[in-house]
Order: sequence, then structure tokens, then C-alpha cells
Amino acid sequence: MGAMRLCFLFFCLFLASVFSLRKLNDIHDLRNITYAKSAPRHGLQLLFWFAQKVVTVDKDNILILDSNFDPSRGDFGFHHYSNREDILPSLSSWQSYYSVGNLKSPGASALPAYVQKYYRNTNVPERNMDRLIISVKQNKPNKILSLFITAYDLQKNDFNPADTYEIDPALVLQIGDPYYCSVDENNMSGIHTKSRKTEDTEYDRYLKFLTETGYSSNDCKHSHISRRKKRSPYLQCNAYEGIKLEIKATTEGFSKLLWEIPAKMMENSKYIHIEICQNTRSSETNEVHTQVRKQLNIYEPSGALDTSISMNTGLQPRLRLYPTLFDFQFTNPYIWYGPEFDGANRVIPTRIKGFDASLQLYAEDGKACARLYIKKTFSNWKEVFYYSWVAFYKSSQDKNDEYSTYQYAGKFAKIENFITDNYDIYQYNSSLVIAPGVQIRFLLDKKYEMVLAQTMPWEGVEAVTILPSDCGTPSPSLQPQISSNMPEFFYGPEYNNIGLQLYTEDSKACARLYIKKTFTDWKDTFYYSWVGFYTSSQDTNDGYYTYCYVVKFEKMAVDNDNYDIYQYKSKLDIAPGVQIRFLKDKSSYNVLVKTEPWKNGK
Ligand SMILES: *[C@@H]1O[C@H](CO)[C@@H](O)[C@H](O)[C@H]1NC(C)=O
Ligand SMILES: *[C@@H]1O[C@H](CO)[C@@H](O)[C@H](O)[C@H]1NC(C)=O
Ligand SMILES: *[C@@H]1O[C@H](CO)[C@@H](O)[C@H](O)[C@H]1NC(C)=O
Repeated sequence: MGAMRLCFLFFCLFLASVFSLRKLNDIHDLRNITYAKSAPRHGLQLLFWFAQKVVTVDKDNILILDSNFDPSRGDFGFHHYSNREDILPSLSSWQSYYSVGNLKSPGASALPAYVQKYYRNTNVPERNMDRLIISVKQNKPNKILSLFITAYDLQKNDFNPADTYEIDPALVLQIGDPYYCSVDENNMSGIHTKSRKTEDTEYDRYLKFLTETGYSSNDCKHSHISRRKKRSPYLQCNAYEGIKLEIKATTEGFSKLLWEIPAKMMENSKYIHIEICQNTRSSETNEVHTQVRKQLNIYEPSGALDTSISMNTGLQPRLRLYPTLFDFQFTNPYIWYGPEFDGANRVIPTRIKGFDASLQLYAEDGKACARLYIKKTFSNWKEVFYYSWVAFYKSSQDKNDEYSTYQYAGKFAKIENFITDNYDIYQYNSSLVIAPGVQIRFLLDKKYEMVLAQTMPWEGVEAVTILPSDCGTPSPSLQPQISSNMPEFFYGPEYNNIGLQLYTEDSKACARLYIKKTFTDWKDTFYYSWVGFYTSSQDTNDGYYTYCYVVKFEKMAVDNDNYDIYQYKSKLDIAPGVQIRFLKDKSSYNVLVKTEPWKNGK
């Protein structure tokens, strides 16, 4: 008897270890498993969003995170996961797990509406049991070591090994949106972006993904609306996919309501209202308070309406359908909760090039606000940014000196922060009304050239930054217009911020490398890397005039708190058109960054 029990125990352990190692390689594998297959589960939605928006797969089949993204900043509600339950393989001390998907956490409001939809409209535990987990190296957080999906065991309040899967990069590639590279709209940043198609296309892809994986959004047995009364046909949950409610900014900083209601629902309802509610989260209890700001009677199945309510975090449209006069009189509506406005249009902060800091455009009371995220380890930031300022622009087309208003970084006020322990957040409320097109930029000094960060224009075409090396070689006409004298910073899976600068001394072309002081093993990472000198930006990579291995660069005596600077002076005469490129390895394909061609007078 005892032996049998022991056997059973071993069998369970065996199962547990086998389960934790299951790997999904393609959509068929995903279809084959029972993980999160019906509403209100959101695990597949998390995976779809992550593959579409946050991660790319590089040539070596490695998952690379968007270079603006930082799990330790609490983006999208990511937070450190200790693997206490040992569901996942144990990690070395310099690696970490981060988990996302807890829709209760404040950062999660930046997740797309389709991830949060069932959570908002049901109240059963299944609505919040799924998670996506990544492992990264602590000092190189842009490269994902592995990716998992998992779910809580609702009985045990622990992750369930039987519901835990590793995701192969090949599957991410299948789900992900094929992207193409271009540069930022106003060509000022040295970083390439991949443009995303419109939200509608993304939603179509999302629906297709659900079909492919066999997800059923019709499962409504958990719906909060179960009542004594018989439900009308339109109360089926498949209607969920047809309702669209959205709040956007008008050109005057007020909120605009957009709606779409399926025709069948219109027919079956005697009265239809949409309320615009203001939700506020109390910091102590995590309770949500609601105030109805406006109530609209709806007669058309779709439309857009400008309101007089200022854009503000926590605004939420709610649809109230009254099937009969009786329901109306006794306020028995069917309520559908639309997405809550998160203050930043679901855009994560933009990295301030070369520093452990980032910038975010935010809306508060109808006005454009700037948020600075400063890593706590960057303790002397007020000195470093003593002359730095954030400028507010009505349009991303405005020149740097055409700002509407500005504030010095040092004058920003520290705000309460529920999202992350690793960063402090500082905010400045400007007087500029929030409206489509508004953009903010971070300028390093009193001049107008050193733009170290610029946000995506408000409600602009969405774009995420990725490594230039993942874009293939962009055509010369797509090269960003950036001042030659400014280092081009780049990021990678194995390094944080490296700057490459074209420079001249005694009329010769020189290359300068800016290496972060904390990046101590850079000589190992770049052992085979070299900088090529080209007489023209049209030259092929192996058509260099001369080159030098980066480990042979000479360290300069210049004193900089954050960076060590290394230089190599070449024999190439400086002239208009001269360009330098940083190549990762002995082949001439892997260009990590190239400078803007030299211009006269620089
Ligand atoms: C898919 O499911 C079938 C039937 O349950 C099983 O035989 C097959 O091995 C599964 N395939 C994969 C790739 O898991
Ligand atoms: C940005 O680059 C494109 C393509 O090269 C060009 O047409 C456009 O005029 C540039 N915009 C600015 C603001 O320089
Ligand atoms: C910005 O405005 C909001 C809303 O009016 C206010 O609560 C907040 O304290 C202001 N923040 C700063 C840093 O001035």
C-alpha cells in the first residue's frame, strides 16, 4: 500500500516535470491544447498581443523586446516573478522572470481592449487566471531567454504545471505581424521603427487568431447577468465581439465618444444609453469609485459624438440596454463596460537615448502632461539634466524651436507611483490642450539639436522601435536626418546603450564609441566587432576604405559619469559623405548602427 502511494507520488512528480517542459512550436500545437480556450480566459489574448506588439524574432531565432520596453519599469503591469512554485526551470542569479496578465494591477490598463474585455464584463475568477512569463538577463533585459504561458490553479492559488507551456520563437513568428521598417515620421530619431497597421487590421488579425486556435467567446455561463428573468437572445456573449465603444481626444482636449452596436441588439432594445463614467482608483484599497459624467440616448447603431468632458485617466463608456419599458422603469439594464482610458493612449514611455530615463506623453484634465521615468540608480540625474528641458508641440511636424510651451526637467514634480519600485516618476502639467498630433521632446541642453527622445504623436500611427539590424539594410533615402556630431545610440539583446559617433581630428575621420560604465564585459561581447570607414554611404559593407576592431580603440581621458569613451583615428580624410558603420562580427552583414554621412561645415 505504502509502496503504491510512493509510486503514485513519483508518478505525479514525473508528470509535473514533464508538463512544465511542454513546448509549443506552432499554431497547431496551440490549437491542440486546452489552455484558455473560452471566455472569460485571456491567456491567448496575452500571447497574441505580446507577439504582435512587444517582441520580434531576430535572424538567430532569438526573441528581442521593443527597445523602449522595460519589464522592470512595470510596463503593461509586468512585474518580477519569483518562481516560488518551481513551475518554471530555476534560473541563475543574474536572470529574472517577469510576469504579465494580472488585470488587477494598475499598469495593466495599458493592455489592449481585447485583452481586458472579458475581465471587465464578468466577475468570476477565470477572468484573471492567465499569465505570460518571460525570463531575461538582468543586465541585458532586451533579449528574452524564454517565454511561457501559464494559469493559476484556482483551487490552490498557485500556478498549475498542467497549464504551463513554453513558447517557441517559431510560434511567436507565426502569430506576429510581419513588419516593415521605416524611420520616425519627422526623421529625427536615429532609431528605426516598425510601422503597425491600423487598429482595425489588428482586430481582424486578432479575430482570425481566435478562430485558428479554436477559442470560443460564446461561453457565457459565467456571465454576471444571470438573473431570474429569462434572457433575451441578444444577451448571448457572442455579441461581445460586435460592440465597440471608444473614447478619443477632440482637437480641444475634450473626449469624443465613438460607438458601434450590432443591429440585432438595437432591434431588441427599447432604450439604449451610453454613460461616460469617471473611474478613480483609491490608492490604499485598490477600490474603484465611479461617477457618471454624462448620459447619452442612443438611436443610431454607430456614430461619433464630441462631449464637453475633459480627457482624463479613468474615463469609461458604458452601454446600458433596456429590453423593455419594465426593465427601464426598474433599471434592469444589460450593462456592457467599454475600455477605460489609461491616460497615455496605451503607449509605453520612450527611452531617453543614452540614459536610464524615459519620457511619456500623458493627458490630465484635457491638457498635455509629460512624465519622466528616472531609474532610481540614476541618482545624479538632476545634475546631468541640469539644462535639459521637455518641449510640447502641437504637431510632430513642428521644428524643435517651434514649441508651444516647455519646462526644465529639474522642475518636474515627483508623483506617487503604484507601478514600479525601480523608477521614480516626475510629472509636469502643461497648458497645451491634448489633441491628435501633440508631441513632446526631450532636449539635452539649451540648444535645439540634441533631441534625446520624442514621443509618438498623440493618436498617431502606432510604431514600435526595434534594432536597425532587424530591419535589413534600409535604403539610403530612409536614413534618418540626424546631426553628424551627435552619437548614434543603439541597443541590443546583449548590451544596453552604445553610442557611435563620427568625429574629425586633423582633417581625418575618427570614430568614437560611448560605452556605458556598467557594461564591463563589452570587450567579450564585441570581440569580433569592427568599425568600417566608408567614403560614401552608398558603399557596400565590404567596400570600406579602412577599418579597426573596436577592442583596439584607445580609451580617452575625457571624464563622463556614465560612459567611457574610446576613439580610433583613421587615415581617411574627412569629406562630405563619409560614413562609419559598426559591424557585429567578422561577416559584413551584421551592421548594428551607421552614422549619418558627414556634411560640410560639421
Ligand atoms: C494533438 O492531439 C492529438 C489527439 O489528442 C494527439 O494525438 C497529438 O499527439 C497532438 N499533437 C501534438 C502536436 O501535441
Ligand atoms: C522624412 O523622410 C522622408 C523620406 O525620405 C521625406 O520624404 C520627408 O520629407 C522627411 N521629413 C522630414 C520632416 O524631414
Ligand atoms: C496635474 O494635474 C492633476 C489634475 O488636475 C493634479 O491632480 C496633479 O496634482 C497635477 N500634477 C502636477 C505635477 O502638477
